Amino acid sequence: MRRGSAPPEIPSYLDAVRGSSATLIRKRLEARGTPVGAAFVAELAAGGEKDLRDRLEHGGKQMPAFPHLAGPEVDALLHYLKQQAGVPEATGPDLEVDESVARVGEHLVKGTCHVCHDATGPGSGHMMMMRGTIPSLASFPEEKSPDDLIRKVRYGASGMMGMMGGGRMPTFRYLTEEEIVAAYLYLANYPPRP
Ligand code: HEC
Repeated sequence: MRRGSAPPEIPSYLDAVRGSSATLIRKRLEARGTPVGAAFVAELAAGGEKDLRDRLEHGGKQMPAFPHLAGPEVDALLHYLKQQAGVPEATGPDLEVDESVARVGEHLVKGTCHVCHDATGPGSGHMMMMRGTIPSLASFPEEKSPDDLIRKVRYGASGMMGMMGGGRMPTFRYLTEEEIVAAYLYLANYPPRP
């Protein structure tokens, strides 16, 4: 996993998502004065859709892959992203997927926490934190309570890091306590192994 500095420029995903929309592709080409056939536009849109799905499954040079996402989850995610990107074909309400608590926790752990935290390795002992080591996911259920996790994730620096001048981890206010507890339960029930 990547550590520390972000790449100089991470492109917005909005344009890539718009590249899956036949309506938007046609509009863009027409605005340039390019004559377009419906079949050609449909082909471009299908290619854009495939690129999005491939990217999610396999990742990119810097972006991690999300192979654990199941078909209906990918559909729901792409529908949401298309709504964000103003894709006219993505009308109607969000797609809903039935998820168990463990699965919600798994999404959170794999989709968010694991971007920075390795699965296994040292926890947040004094020396490790002094050295700037990011504690492993496996250490959370061993060293923390669900409340510790909620505090850290929603409100930021706690205990040790707070005393040492504040944490570097961003806070995630949009996550609910239930979601964070789900992540905790997921890690406790399915501890990552080396
Ligand atoms: C953008 C990178 C990043 C993401 C994403 C991230 N963390 Fe962290 N986390 C850190 C860093 C850096 C530290 C060590 C410094 C600090 O405490 O801020 C840390 C520390 C922690 C600690 C130890 C706190 C302590 O004082 O012992 C916990 C617990 C934690 N993270 C939980 C999580 C959980 C749960 C998630 C997913 C919801 C998550 N983190 C997502 C970067 C991240």
